[in-house]
Amino acid sequence: MDLFEYQAKKLFAEHGVPVPTGKVATTPQQAREIATELGGKVVVKAQVKTGGRGKAGGVKVADGPEDAYEKASAILGMDIKGHTVHSVLVEEASDIAEEYYASFLLDRANRTFLAMASREGGMEIEEVAATNPAALARIHIDPLTGVDAAKAREIAVAAKLPDAALDGASTLLAKLWKVFVKSDATLVEVNPLILTGDGRVVALDGKVTLDENADFRHPENADLVDVAAVDPLEQKAKEKGLNYVKLEGQVGIIGNGAGLVMSTLDVVTYAGEEFGGQKPANFLDIGGGASAEVMANGLSIILGDPSVKSVFVNIFGGITACDAVANGIIQALDIVGNVTTPLVVRLDGNNAEEGRRILKEANLSVVKPVDTMDGAAKLAAELAAAAA
Ligand SMILES: Nc1ncnc2c1ncn2[C@@H]1O[C@H](COP(=O)(O)OP(=O)(O)OP(=O)(O)O)[C@@H](O)[C@H]1O
Ligand SMILES: [Mg+2]
Repeated sequence: MDLFEYQAKKLFAEHGVPVPTGKVATTPQQAREIATELGGKVVVKAQVKTGGRGKAGGVKVADGPEDAYEKASAILGMDIKGHTVHSVLVEEASDIAEEYYASFLLDRANRTFLAMASREGGMEIEEVAATNPAALARIHIDPLTGVDAAKAREIAVAAKLPDAALDGASTLLAKLWKVFVKSDATLVEVNPLILTGDGRVVALDGKVTLDENADFRHPENADLVDVAAVDPLEQKAKEKGLNYVKLEGQVGIIGNGAGLVMSTLDVVTYAGEEFGGQKPANFLDIGGGASAEVMANGLSIILGDPSVKSVFVNIFGGITACDAVANGIIQALDIVGNVTTPLVVRLDGNNAEEGRRILKEANLSVVKPVDTMDGAAKLAAELAAAAA
């Protein structure tokens, strides 16, 4: 989960990383009030989860409360790379002497953590990396020892930060590492990290990505979710404990096991080419225990998506055998009720014969059993195309 800048800065502040004082506003009036509270010059910043806000006109300096009102009016509602601005951060304007770059991230390729830092910050760091790679220091971090004062200084020195910024940057980096570890982040990025006219080092921007797999130990993360941006079906699935991802196609997919579901997406996409480009409408892994209740929850979520014209239930019986799954499907249809969307069902693996027999005997008009994965994908795509 990516955080908004204001959320990232709150996290920074909680761990002692210096940030400008500021508050979020959703209306120009609020922006004016915050500017009055802060006094003096302020910066009004669009809160959207995308980069390049400054270039797009989403970061503006205001002389005082009235100007903050004007700037907020202009920025609120603005579209930045497809993201509508619903809120702005109003913060005190900093006296910037220099702008640097610093980040910690999970380096998957090297199976470790990485610090990146540069004296050339403020602008797009990708550009620095491309045009002047020597200016971007990359330092690996041993997860067991982390970033202590000495390691933080090593990073600041490698980034070629000037002497005036070394102490401040080292202290800040050690604290920023605490943010990274304590919040289970996969990225914390500060661009720009600034040196102020009076010699302080401050995080002027903040980008944080949290590892959702660690949500279980961060109940406080629930408050960080951008409810306006959450897909209602994905939200419902999450509440039911299902791994559901909405996609753009017409063929609903239910499978057990992430690997099987992934390959089901592939075969459906492939089969769909023959029928005018029918595509998977979702990813849904119902996991190991495919009980009637889990199947019913999955079905009701998929059928809640109006673009779904057919459903492909692809089950490989393991510990939960196919006969149990077949009964689960029949009961699930009963629980959901009034299902008219065709359900192409492929059962294989443990007790597949018995499972197929049960489905055949139930003789439900919406259930179309097919023995092979390719055959089932083809029929599901064909039915979706016919219903369109
Ligand atoms: N509080 C502030 N005081 C003074 N100047 C600021 C302040 N916040 C931002 N700026 C200026 O605006 C520039 C852009 O700000 P920021 O880095 O937050 O946005 P951005 O880089 O355009 O957005 P993104 O990081 O999403 O690409 C900064 O490099 C800095 O020069
Ligand atoms: Mg920035």
